[in-house]
Amino acid sequence: MRRGSLLVDHIGELVTNDGRDGDPLGVRRDAALLVEDGQVAWIGSARDAPAADRRIDAGGAAVLPGFVDSHAHLVFAGDRAAEFAARMAGERYTGGGIRTTVGATRAASDDDLRATVGRLRAEMLRQGTTTVEIKSGYGLNVADEARSLRIAAEFTEDTTFLGAHVVPAEYAHRPDDYVGMVCGPMLAAAAPYARWIDVFCERGAFDADHTRAILACGQAAGLGVRLHANQLGPGPGVRLGVELGAASVDHCTHLTDADVDALAGSETVATLLPGAEFSTRSPYPDARRLLDAGATVALATDCNPGSSYTSSMPFCVALAVREMRMTPAEAVWAATAGGAAALRRTDVGRLTPGARADLIILDAPSHLHLAYRPGVPLIRQVLHNGVPR
Ligand code: NIG
Ligand code: FE
Repeated sequence: MRRGSLLVDHIGELVTNDGRDGDPLGVRRDAALLVEDGQVAWIGSARDAPAADRRIDAGGAAVLPGFVDSHAHLVFAGDRAAEFAARMAGERYTGGGIRTTVGATRAASDDDLRATVGRLRAEMLRQGTTTVEIKSGYGLNVADEARSLRIAAEFTEDTTFLGAHVVPAEYAHRPDDYVGMVCGPMLAAAAPYARWIDVFCERGAFDADHTRAILACGQAAGLGVRLHANQLGPGPGVRLGVELGAASVDHCTHLTDADVDALAGSETVATLLPGAEFSTRSPYPDARRLLDAGATVALATDCNPGSSYTSSMPFCVALAVREMRMTPAEAVWAATAGGAAALRRTDVGRLTPGARADLIILDAPSHLHLAYRPGVPLIRQVLHNGVPR
């Protein structure tokens, strides 16, 4: 028995995501799981459970991998509740409010930004999210993009440079100059703190040529590619992302058959963000069409003060099941293993020997309850790196 080992025992339903036997969730019943050195050391039948230093009795509840939220904009200041209220009264979402947040973010101190990221990260952990990607994108000048990523890197390994979120007001009539700045001094200042590069490829933000140029610079600097694409209307983003080998194209709300075929024949994950459609009162993406075509689908929150101010993966799972025709099993897989695939990570999103011991004990007997009991705080306990939180 290794010192510091921890046994989670009496698990009624263990979701492993091991992909065996044609069951993507890899469910085991009456199971136990041993944690050593922050990793899953063993899983098996509760009958065969080894001895351990400490024990958590799950009491027949379901245990799932921690959620992997692969798309979040947590480094910001200010509040856009009035914009939300205006939308609920009939206004359309255009992304124009991003500039409001840029102004507030530039004016904020490092400590204020750090406190907001910390508050949202803690909120996420309480709701079962053990891995989160964090983007910049509300600084939009060299110093503020670099400090956004520096602060994000205090909270996650998966940091994303989104200097190409929108063209800031001071470059409104010189978008080519802005793209030159993003690819030059801004990328140089951001890259040391970033794992990924992202572009908002959309009418009113960046067109295909600009997107391609920025992603190519990011790739040359060693960053992996991800993309905001086809959120507000059809466009070239999804196919461009697939062509460039993006780990993920995110939103995917307006897709043509060619977009769906491109995703289905690729390693690029389609990350769906139903919190954005909920909060902008827009039609949801068609997850069923993507899944039936054979694409890999992830779910994420898109947590940001404009289009989706939720930090809750359980809420996104419930929306995906109710509004996007995903089965509960597909939605849970997409929120865990799907998010890991979108971040090209194999150490999270599953509970198999060698994986990080990131897990959720539900206040419920099965994963079905996440969608069956929407809005209910069902996360009884979270282990992050094997440590109870
Ligand atoms: O993913 N679409 C672009 N970016 C964010 C929204 C940002 C905002 O409105 O502040 C999104 O939805
Ligand atoms: Fe986003």
